[in-house]
Amino acid sequence: MGKELINIFDTTLRDGEQVPGCKLETEKKVEIAVRLDELGVDIIEAGFPISSPGDYKSVREISQVIKNSSVCGLSRAVKKDIEVAANALKKAKKPRIHTGIGTSDSHIKYKFKSNRETIANRAVDAVKYARKFVEDIEFYAEDAGRTDNDFLASICEKVIDAGATVLNIPDTTGYCLPNQYAKKIEYLVNNVPNIDKAIISCHCHNDLGLATANSIQGIISGARQIECTINGIGERAGNTSLEEVVMVMRQHNELGFDTKINSKLLYNTSKMVSEIMGMPVQPNKAIVGSNAFSHSSGIHQDGVIKNRETYEIIDPNDVGVNESSIVLTARSGRAAIAYKAKKIGFVLSKIELDKVYEFFLKFADINKEVKDTDLPTLIKQALK
Ligand code: KIV
Ligand code: ZN
Repeated sequence: MGKELINIFDTTLRDGEQVPGCKLETEKKVEIAVRLDELGVDIIEAGFPISSPGDYKSVREISQVIKNSSVCGLSRAVKKDIEVAANALKKAKKPRIHTGIGTSDSHIKYKFKSNRETIANRAVDAVKYARKFVEDIEFYAEDAGRTDNDFLASICEKVIDAGATVLNIPDTTGYCLPNQYAKKIEYLVNNVPNIDKAIISCHCHNDLGLATANSIQGIISGARQIECTINGIGERAGNTSLEEVVMVMRQHNELGFDTKINSKLLYNTSKMVSEIMGMPVQPNKAIVGSNAFSHSSGIHQDGVIKNRETYEIIDPNDVGVNESSIVLTARSGRAAIAYKAKKIGFVLSKIELDKVYEFFLKFADINKEVKDTDLPTLIKQALK
């Protein structure tokens, strides 16, 4: 049986770009959007058009060039926001307006100084108004992670009746545990009578390092869209990382889910976003970190040299990394030295290998890492 496709909604250019220091000029945003389209994301959230003239321009220009993905603009549940978003999206082949409002008691009380009824009415009015401009309307219930489930279900039912096609259930503060987020999605699936008319979307923040786990639990529970960013960039500790959720689905066939993402472009896209935004990727970042496919301890190196699968669950080629790397450090063993030596044309006998290894260890204890370019001299000196 074929796998069920999950929509990938990329918000690198909106939630990701909100990070201090990541703000981009239109030209750079267009460059990234074109790459996201090639990567195969279903929806590109291109920006928040009312927020600044620059963001309006970016959403407008991205709308003009994107061929396959839907292009989405964010708005608050405010008429002017919706009008400006609709204008910016005019040239998009597949426009989507993303409108919404905070629904948790904390947002209602402190942000809006309002009450549930008024908030629900504003949500409905916003969706109805947005529907005057485009057919594809995503509604976000900000802070849904901490919103009372009964109220959330009732607001979802109302906005679907008003014309929402997608319901975004953000764990805005990254508070939920995976089982809590799963229960919330299940609750909506079971308690919103018209839920079959909309797609539920997971939008998880990573404040407790749970964004990927929560998003995956969300789709297991019935959501069919994940909102994410390249390298997991985003407000505070970031958003769900696109490359992680995509590869979780690829690696775990038993889940029965897949996406349209061309995973071979993941590594280069990660590098591109990191360079353009000036946001380095931590070396141990899953899938795209520089150490994600490198092995430095003797035990692991010996295993990987015999068979890559002993210590790797993903073929690096599948995410666009050329090959796994063996890094020489003082923790490396003879197998790694012999392997590296052979690669540069030295086939060492057992006695020669022992000599080179002894020499190598002394050198490696002083130098954190032994570079491949150090090896020929080391070998020659050890065998002198
Ligand atoms: O985290 C969040 O709640 C958001 C919404 C604006 C969708 O980014
Ligand atoms: Zn967010």
